[in-house]
Amino acid sequence: MSQGLVTMSYIAASILFILSLSGLSNQETARRGNYYGMLGMAIAILATIAGGHVTAYAILAGALLIGGSIGAFAAARVEMTQMPELVALMHSLVGMAAVLVGYASFMDHGIVLTGVEETIHELEIYIGIFIGAVTFSGSVIAFGKLCGKITGKPVLLPARHWLNLLLLIATVILGQQFLVSNETGTPIFGNHLFDNSIFNGPVLALLLMTVIALVFGIHMVMAIGGADMPVVVSMLNSYSGWAAAATGFMLSNDLLIVTGALVGSSGAILSYIMCRAMNRHFLSVIAGGFGSVGGGAAAEVEGEVQPIEAEETAQLLRDSKNIVIIPGYGMAVAQAQHTVNEITKLLIGQGKKVRFAIHPVAGRMPGHMNVLLAEAKVPYDIVLEMDEINADFPDVDVSIVIGANDIVNPSALDDPNSPIAGMPVLECWKSGTTIVMKRSMASGYAGVGNPLFVHENTRMLFGDANDRLQALLKALQE
Ligand code: TAP
Repeated sequence: MSQGLVTMSYIAASILFILSLSGLSNQETARRGNYYGMLGMAIAILATIAGGHVTAYAILAGALLIGGSIGAFAAARVEMTQMPELVALMHSLVGMAAVLVGYASFMDHGIVLTGVEETIHELEIYIGIFIGAVTFSGSVIAFGKLCGKITGKPVLLPARHWLNLLLLIATVILGQQFLVSNETGTPIFGNHLFDNSIFNGPVLALLLMTVIALVFGIHMVMAIGGADMPVVVSMLNSYSGWAAAATGFMLSNDLLIVTGALVGSSGAILSYIMCRAMNRHFLSVIAGGFGSVGGGAAAEVEGEVQPIEAEETAQLLRDSKNIVIIPGYGMAVAQAQHTVNEITKLLIGQGKKVRFAIHPVAGRMPGHMNVLLAEAKVPYDIVLEMDEINADFPDVDVSIVIGANDIVNPSALDDPNSPIAGMPVLECWKSGTTIVMKRSMASGYAGVGNPLFVHENTRMLFGDANDRLQALLKALQE
């Protein structure tokens, strides 16, 4: 394939990626957005393979087959509730790829550069490996936290900000030593200990920096508390984009630079939106330490629980006109979205006003609830964002909370010591009655008690969400 055709293909793929991102920003166009992305990626891969730089086709075919099979197997097997973990794992692979490409570029003596060009190439390698290693270790910890293998609570080392600063300073100094020793052949810090080994000056500097970057990634994500994980997920998404862009610089691949920058900047915008939704400052979340906002212990939840059964809930719904459904992570676990849709259709058919209230961090990944509701074919126009519906709750007759917990926790507004203090929540307790569907009194992802469950207007409908909703549907039909 001629270079001109490759460039044309890269431009076409870049445009398709931009169309894909804009399509994904809206539920109605999301499917089309996905197709644009798939087409763009197919063009990108074909153009790169046919572009003339690739010679080892057999190795490439083998790698594509192995990697593609693992990916297809994982995607087919993964439960919807495990998607966030899978995404975190994917981010870690992008990070690892950036590290490996960085080392490969460093060891590749095929391209001989001199002067400023050489320095720029070395900087690309150094920064690429740094971002890649932070993304890799941070994503592995995020994976552990999301699947519950690592504690969701913030792990805060004493003087953690100083530790971060120290690691950053060490990275800069090592970077300077890397550049100098690579260009002059002198060992780092004048130490001749490794002179005759493969760990000569620049290699040692790169290795030390990689270890520091790995520690930095672990430390950063470990310090972030459960309820702030959404920001971490989108932040690591952004990092993985920058890691890919850095890889593009190292490989002199324009498309990888563009794609990486698109992912990096859209991830950064998403992180900013998430922070705003949770009333957090972006830099404070990155520095870690939420979960200890007020310094004291969160208040214990005391009060009487008022259980309710499906038949009584059905009667309540029959008597009401204005109903709001609040889905949370438990709806995803129970896969209750289809039953929810059946109930919604029935109630709307009876002339009732039914709307859905979506919290920006409901579930375990951005847009989690929207995806599930779209899958069940709930009409988009009755699915509202938190800001669009929060003021309406005093006029709502019944709010039905389906497997949600942190996103409807009033202590976020009342208790300054709560780990989720300051996070805006759906204020459903202001409606006439709130029905909370969950299996027990257990806490949610942030691990805090929820006073909503003992509120005077709240009735608890205990059991698996899908099971209880089926019973409710049956009772409504009778
Ligand atoms: P959670 O606070 O995690 O609460 C979910 C509730 O669902 C649990 O209390 C659980 O109670 C219940 N549940 C689980 N399985 C159920 C089932 N089969 N049937 C009925 N109920 C079930 O969820 P949320 O309110 O959606 O809030 C999301 C939380 O996750 C926030 O803290 C958020 O910061 C965090 N987070 C979000 C994201 C993104 S990007 N959205 C990413 C990472 C973390 P029982 O065990 O008693 O049933």
